[in-house]
Amino acid sequence: MINFARNYRWRPRGRLFLPIKMRTILWDYDKHEVQMIDQRRLPARLEIVAFRSHQDIAAAIQNMIVRGAPAIGAAAAFGLALAARESKASDAAALLSDLETAAQTLRASRPTAVNLAWAVGRILRIAYSVTGSIEDVRRAILIEAQRLADDDVEVNKRMAEHGVSLIADGDTVIHHCNTGSLATVDYGTALGVIRMAHEQGKRVHVLVDETRPRLQGARLTAWELEQYGIPYEIISDNMAGHFLRRGQAQKVFFGADCIAANGDVANKIGTYMLALAAHDNSVPTYAVAPTSTIDLSLAHGGLIPIEERDPGEVLDIEFQGERVTPQGARARNPAFDVTPNRLITAIVTENGIVRPPFDKNLRTLFTG
Ligand code: MRU
Repeated sequence: MINFARNYRWRPRGRLFLPIKMRTILWDYDKHEVQMIDQRRLPARLEIVAFRSHQDIAAAIQNMIVRGAPAIGAAAAFGLALAARESKASDAAALLSDLETAAQTLRASRPTAVNLAWAVGRILRIAYSVTGSIEDVRRAILIEAQRLADDDVEVNKRMAEHGVSLIADGDTVIHHCNTGSLATVDYGTALGVIRMAHEQGKRVHVLVDETRPRLQGARLTAWELEQYGIPYEIISDNMAGHFLRRGQAQKVFFGADCIAANGDVANKIGTYMLALAAHDNSVPTYAVAPTSTIDLSLAHGGLIPIEERDPGEVLDIEFQGERVTPQGARARNPAFDVTPNRLITAIVTENGIVRPPFDKNLRTLFTG
């Protein structure tokens, strides 16, 4: 992995700087490497890191240099393009075997986001379909990975076009985790909907859940909202119920890492409690996700694998310069929870807004 600072063009906006053209993840065609924004460093530093091996991509997904379901799907797709270049195979069968091994490493890097396995499957299918030389396979994989990344941006914009009708002028929206450009190749899922509402001139205010333990809301969503000029306030996760009960939030929006066939939604830990509080106060709750996040092979959310991460993410925090937890303290750290379908008003996809009954209506997204 190579660290380097890129010469992006900057446009000053207040105290912050907006990169004019930049994706969360891209393939550099001159250097034959994958470049990503290092999301662990934001908002303090906007740093681009480069990768030349699929193992480094898998590590970047695991340690959350890149995160967010669609973004890690694109990362894995480019990871397979790297694996194809790395392979010393002298025939197609050997190359496919190397790709299968790389696919396993990439799939294992984070287990909950279905987009990861989906992207790996899409690239492998292309690799198997090529009948030409090894170079032809390598070329076809890179073309498909690039197409997958480009599709992601287009799909996000289509989701936003559907979802924007759900936001009224003057709404205050509670948003969980980070679902913006950083969680995707560009534009975002739930945050993309909010962004489009703002771009259309609707006055929208965002209450940003800080999203313990990794603070994707306070660090990343707040940073993005600064770039877009969308008004927001950060709240700690345990404040959401208070604002919902007081009628100070009209909608709840979040993304998804996996949606089961019955509409149960796995998303960042804390989503379930937020949806419960919204439901108790009759506040509409929307999940925004591409169809690549839906896994019809899982009948219900109880079957979704939930990633358990290092307890250090919970324990190693400081308050006013002092460590918060006692030495020797233990912690639990499930990265996602499952929100049952009964708490979800609608699921926004690139093919339209899906309402209950989800078990029937999600299926029609795929069957037409
Ligand atoms: O652990 P993370 O930061 O990868 O979790 C991200 C989320 O939970 C997002 O809400 C989800 O990926 C969907 S948004 C594109």
